[in-house]
Amino acid sequence: MAALDFTTAFDLRDRVVVITGAAGGIGQSLASAFAERGARLALLDREPSVQAVAERHGGSARGFVLDLAAEREVADTVDAVVASFGRIDVLVNNAGIGHVGPAEAIPTADWNEVVSINLSAQYLVTRTVAPHMLARGYGRVVFMASQAAVVGLDQHAAYCAAKTGLLGMARCMAIEWGPRGVTVNCVSPTVVNSPMALVGWAGEKGERAKAEIPVRRFAEPEEVALAVLFLASGAAAMINGANLPVDGGYTIR
Ligand SMILES: NC(=O)c1ccc[n+]([C@@H]2O[C@H](COP(=O)([O-])OP(=O)(O)OC[C@H]3O[C@@H](n4cnc5c(N)ncnc54)[C@H](O)[C@@H]3O)[C@@H](O)[C@H]2O)c1
Repeated sequence: MAALDFTTAFDLRDRVVVITGAAGGIGQSLASAFAERGARLALLDREPSVQAVAERHGGSARGFVLDLAAEREVADTVDAVVASFGRIDVLVNNAGIGHVGPAEAIPTADWNEVVSINLSAQYLVTRTVAPHMLARGYGRVVFMASQAAVVGLDQHAAYCAAKTGLLGMARCMAIEWGPRGVTVNCVSPTVVNSPMALVGWAGEKGERAKAEIPVRRFAEPEEVALAVLFLASGAAAMINGANLPVDGGYTIR
């Protein structure tokens, strides 16, 4: 490979970047971070507001509305992205949902939805995008996991199961695709100040959680986006199959 140049190692100019869940709190920060670095954005979400997020970034950014758990919609969208941008360099599997509840009483529908969107849909999207990357011998895949992939969390059995599953899946993909130019990594934030966090971490419970994080605060969406940016850049070419915590030290205990 060419020698790394410190001034361009973080350059993502003209990279075609697919971001799922781009209408959400972290997704919007991801879109801003990649746009700032000159990437061309394909922003995917089931919320039509993803179109407005794309418009904010102007230029070549495009929004795509779909259900990531629907195989046909994923196939059609990936086709449309490749038709529109010519290729896919980076895939950020960021979409996710959370349901909280006691492990002995999670409704089957909640369990299935959490596993379907947080794990199966990530596989579906990645399986659909990967052949385009492998054919060109280049790609960066990043999964948005969670501290819940590393430690147990009260009332989060389905979420922990799905996020832990991402780490195992990513490691297998990293082994299979690394020799073919495609790296696969995970990012695992602690609670992030985004709308999703308000569901489970508001009030007293949130304050107790912050007290257990060595830096004594939750993460900002921008801090998560910067970690993803790093893993998607040339600077991280030797990092494959890793899980990067963005958790202020929460999971080192
Ligand atoms: N917010 C946190 O505290 C936190 C902490 C650790 C990890 N995470 C992870 O970060 C990711 C983003 O979280 P966020 O806080 O931005 O949440 P968010 O709810 O703000 O955004 C999630 C986005 O995913 C989209 N989405 C969900 N299901 C979809 C589907 N079936 N098809 C298409 N789009 C779908 C939603 O419409 C939403 O825009 C998630 O994977 C989440 O598990 C969040």
